[in-house]
Amino acid sequence: MPMPLSPLRLSFGIKANPNQKMKDYCQRSPQGRKMTAPRARIIGSSLFVRAMVMMLMIFSGFVLVAESAIGVNWGTLSFHKLKPSTVVDLLKDNNIQKVKLFEADPLVLRALMGSGIQVMVGIPNEMLATLSSSPAAADFWVRQNVSTYIGKGGADIRYIAVGNEPFLTSYAGQFQSYVVPALVNLQQSLARANLAGYIKLVVPCNADAYESNVPSQGAFRPELSQIMTQLLSFLNSNGSPFVVNIYPFLSLYGNSDFPQDYAFFEGTTHPVIDGSNTYYNAFDGNFDTLVAALSKIGYGQMPIVIGEVGWPTDGAVGANLTAARVFNQGLINHVLSNNGTPLRPAVPPMDIYLFSLLDEGAKSTLPGNFERHWGIFSFDGQAKYALNLGLGNKKLKNARNVQYLPSRWCVADSSGDLSNVANHMKVACNVADCTTLNYGGSCNSIGAKGNVSYAFNSYYQLLMQNEESCKFDGLGMVTFLDPSVGDCRFLVGVTDTSSSFRPYQRWLISWILILWQVWAFRI
Ligand SMILES: *[C@@H]1O[C@H](CO)[C@@H](O)[C@H](O)[C@H]1NC(C)=O
Ligand SMILES: *[C@@H]1O[C@H](CO)[C@@H](O)[C@H](O)[C@H]1NC(C)=O
Ligand SMILES: *[C@@H]1O[C@H](CO)[C@@H](O)[C@H](O)[C@H]1NC(C)=O
Repeated sequence: MPMPLSPLRLSFGIKANPNQKMKDYCQRSPQGRKMTAPRARIIGSSLFVRAMVMMLMIFSGFVLVAESAIGVNWGTLSFHKLKPSTVVDLLKDNNIQKVKLFEADPLVLRALMGSGIQVMVGIPNEMLATLSSSPAAADFWVRQNVSTYIGKGGADIRYIAVGNEPFLTSYAGQFQSYVVPALVNLQQSLARANLAGYIKLVVPCNADAYESNVPSQGAFRPELSQIMTQLLSFLNSNGSPFVVNIYPFLSLYGNSDFPQDYAFFEGTTHPVIDGSNTYYNAFDGNFDTLVAALSKIGYGQMPIVIGEVGWPTDGAVGANLTAARVFNQGLINHVLSNNGTPLRPAVPPMDIYLFSLLDEGAKSTLPGNFERHWGIFSFDGQAKYALNLGLGNKKLKNARNVQYLPSRWCVADSSGDLSNVANHMKVACNVADCTTLNYGGSCNSIGAKGNVSYAFNSYYQLLMQNEESCKFDGLGMVTFLDPSVGDCRFLVGVTDTSSSFRPYQRWLISWILILWQVWAFRI
């Protein structure tokens, strides 16, 4: 079921153009200031009311945050899955009230029931064809994947994401024509289920849906213009926002001319000058390119939700803990400041879903090794760095009650002859995650033997520490001493004792072991 991950986030809306040579730093537009927080003004109409509000905030632990809400994407393509209820507790402990899912995973939705957390549930692109051609299929989807979970004490599903970046350039239009008909069918299904007033349909788009050298000239890709007109008309008539995924990291990763400081929020020596507007960060530039594109076809006021935004911590040179913390904190502070952007002063995006909650070690590495390291938490729910989400906690809180496998690791046996180990390593890394070993990764400098140990251990943990899986023709051995070095962490797998995963895991292990034997025999 891989969410169409591969080329996903490879493109960016605003092309870093070498001609955009830029000037210096300046202040935000004065308008931005003037118009901040009309809501606060109403609330604070008298000192008394203000004091009351303060009291309420203090007593309820509630913090009056800006208009934007910070949520997270919860993807589940991991070999070491936390129990869904552990993840829901993690969300609650961090006061995260909004979550975006790529699929209607029954275990996840069930765990979200009664949590009060608002949910955007996704429909994979592969289902769009069926949903576009069959009202009955749409009815069935809504019944099975929405109606089942909602109601009193249920999951608070607010949005359905119809497809995931279906207009991505690299899909070469294969999903394009299904989007609007699928929306129409699903909308009717929602209406029939009496849910149309509560649940909104959206279509998360990659920022490659629009382009321009400067934000004010933003326009949707010419071949999308007709479909965008239909889509925006649909969204507008249902009061739905436009959902867009914006990745300054990929702009930096994919373009050596891209000025690094422009990707962050701390000022830049390369601002983009656009008429009377100046852009100091790629996020604002990209956002306003979308605003311009929307305006061009008459929807300049449409609310915008950021469906994915984030920074990976491993697997590429620009992907590290510091950069991720600085980017994500800068983003959150920027959005919660309510300053907005030059084209939308004082109107920040409605909601922002960070990508991502957890690392997903089973994702495709086609986009790059960093693809498995987007989490603000590692796969086992441990905070990777200090981040203030603006939701009441100064720092991220770790997952509680994580059930780990026993503290043991598989490493290369020093007494063995490791000269011929390359094939074993290759097989281990074909199934398990070894992305951190590569150039730019946190385990890239642990030496040749360290490499082997790392690969053996990843494989051993993937196979739930199955005894056979540390043999490697006598080259592997189990140790009780943590072999981690510096930032390079040798993982210990987690067990998900919620029974439903068990058969799957056992099946996976036997399957991998069989493949292993077939391979070993052949060589
Ligand atoms: C509900 O969603 C799941 C996950 O995307 C999918 O596998 C299933 O086919 C959907 N149900 C229907 C009736 O389409
Ligand atoms: C972390 O990444 C940033 C850019 O993303 C880079 O400038 C910096 O040098 C990196 N730090 C380390 C220690 O590699
Ligand atoms: C360890 O493996 C990585 C990835 O294959 C490689 O880049 C690195 O050079 C290896 N280290 C040694 C000392 O062989």
